Amino acid sequence: TITSLLIFLIAHLLVAVSGSDTYSRDDFPQGFVFGAGSSAYQVEGAADQDGRTPSVWDTFAHAGHAHGANGDIACDGYHKYKEDVRLMVDTGLEAYRFSISWSRLIPNGRGPVNPKGLQYYNNLINELISHGIQPHVTLYHFDLPQTLEDEYQGWLSRKIVKDFTDYANVCFKEFGDRVLHWTTVNEPNVLVLGGYDLGFFPPGRCSSSAFGLNCSRGNSSTEPYLAAHNILLAHASVARLYKNKYLEKQQGFIGLNIYTFGVIPLTNKTEDKVAAQRVRDFFIGWFVDPLMYGDYPTSIKKNAGSRIPAFTNLESEWVKGAFDFLAVNYYSTLYVKDKSSSVKREDRDVIADMGVEIIGSRDNTSTFEFPVSAWGLQEVLEYFKQVYGNPPLYIHENGQLTPRNSSLEDWPRVKYLNECIGRLHDAIRNGSNTRGYFIWSFIDAFELNYGYDSSFGLYYVDRDDPELSRQPKLSALWYSHFLKREGIIS
Ligand code: NOJ
Repeated sequence: TITSLLIFLIAHLLVAVSGSDTYSRDDFPQGFVFGAGSSAYQVEGAADQDGRTPSVWDTFAHAGHAHGANGDIACDGYHKYKEDVRLMVDTGLEAYRFSISWSRLIPNGRGPVNPKGLQYYNNLINELISHGIQPHVTLYHFDLPQTLEDEYQGWLSRKIVKDFTDYANVCFKEFGDRVLHWTTVNEPNVLVLGGYDLGFFPPGRCSSSAFGLNCSRGNSSTEPYLAAHNILLAHASVARLYKNKYLEKQQGFIGLNIYTFGVIPLTNKTEDKVAAQRVRDFFIGWFVDPLMYGDYPTSIKKNAGSRIPAFTNLESEWVKGAFDFLAVNYYSTLYVKDKSSSVKREDRDVIADMGVEIIGSRDNTSTFEFPVSAWGLQEVLEYFKQVYGNPPLYIHENGQLTPRNSSLEDWPRVKYLNECIGRLHDAIRNGSNTRGYFIWSFIDAFELNYGYDSSFGLYYVDRDDPELSRQPKLSALWYSHFLKREGIIS
C-alpha cells in the first residue's frame, strides 16, 4: 500500500540522518525482544470495581496533582485487555510490560487475595501467552495500597518489607508458571525523590513547598534515604524469595527498574566532570551499587553523612547480588554543572547533597522528558558495561512525550525512537549485554503529573469517544513495519 511504501522510504531516510548504520529486526541477537509497556494505574481504570481499594496514586490524583485528572477510568484497560492484546498482535509486539495493582490483587495490601483481581491478571497473562507475547511484569509501579501508607507510612517503615514480600509471593505462586521476567520496584530513584524530597509524587512529602505543593510535613534531609534503604531491603527480600522458593520450578529472572538519563558535563572543567559523575552516583549508583557491591557509592555516603542509613553486614550480604538483570528506563540527556560550593550546609536534601545544577531538557512547558538526544541511551548502556561489568539489561522504557491532541502523524516520535534503536544497535555491537527494548507507552495513558494533556503512546486513545477507541499513530505503523521486517532493511 501507499502507507507501507511511505513508511519504508521514511524509515530509510531516518536511518540515513540518524548517524547510525542501518539496522533491521534481524540484526539483533537471538532471544532479543522488542515490546512496549504500561502500568496498572496508568491504563487499567476500573478503580473502584471488583474489590480494588485505593492506592496512593488515587489519593494524590484526586487531590489535584495531575492536572486535575485521575486514573478512575484511564484507558479502561481492565475491560479492554482483549482488544489491547489484539492491537499488540497487529503491531507485531514480541513482549508486553505491565504492572500489577497491589490493591487490586490484595485489597488493602495485606490479607486475602481478591478472586476478581486474580482472574483479571490471569486473563491478561493467558491472552498474551496464547498470542506468543512475553509478559514482563512489574510488581510495584508507584501505587502503594493507601491503607499501608495510612497504617505505617509505607516505604518509610521497615514493615513494608514483609508486606511487599507476601504480595510478591502471591504473584509468583499464581502467575510465575507463565511469567518469566519480573521487576520488583519501578524507578525507586524517582519514587524517593518525587515522594519524599520534592513532593511531586505520592505521598507528596518534602520539607519546603517545592513545586508549589503543600508538602511541608516531611523531612527531606532523611526520608528519601530511609525510603530508598527500605526499598532495597524489600527488593532483596523478594529476589531471595524467588530464588529460594520458585526459581527451580519456574526458571524466571528478577530485576529492578532504574530511571536513567544521559549526563553531559556543561564544560570541560574538572569540577563539572566530577559533578557529572556525582549525578550518575545519585541516580544509578544509589540503587545499583548496593546490588553490585553491598553498599552505597562513596560520594553519597560522604555528602549525606549520618542522614543515610548504613548497611549492617547482614543487610549488605542480603542486598548484594540480589538480581538477575537490571532494567533501565531512558528518556533524555541533561547537562550538569557543579554547584557544590554554593550549597548551604543547613537544611540539606538529596538535591543539595548532589550539589549540581541540572540544565538541559527543562523547557518552558516544564516537560522534563522531551528528549535532547538518543546519544545518551548509548552512554547509559556503555556505563553499565564499563562500570558494572556488563550485567544483563532490559530497556524497559523509552519514549517521547507529545501534547495529546498533536497529529497522529507523530514524526518527531518516529525519528527519536528510530535513533534510539540505532544507538541500541551500536551499543550491542560494542558488546552491551542488552536483551530487550520496550517503548513507553503502548497506548496513550494517564501520565503521572500530566494527566491526559500529554502522552507517550504509539496508539492514540480518543477520550471524546465513550468507547475510548484506540487509533494507531505513525509511530505504531513504523514500529510494526520494523518488527514485521517490512520496514528498515540494511
Ligand atoms: C516513568 C514511569 O515509569 C512511567 O510511569 C511514566 O509514565 C513514564 N516514565 C513517563 O514519565
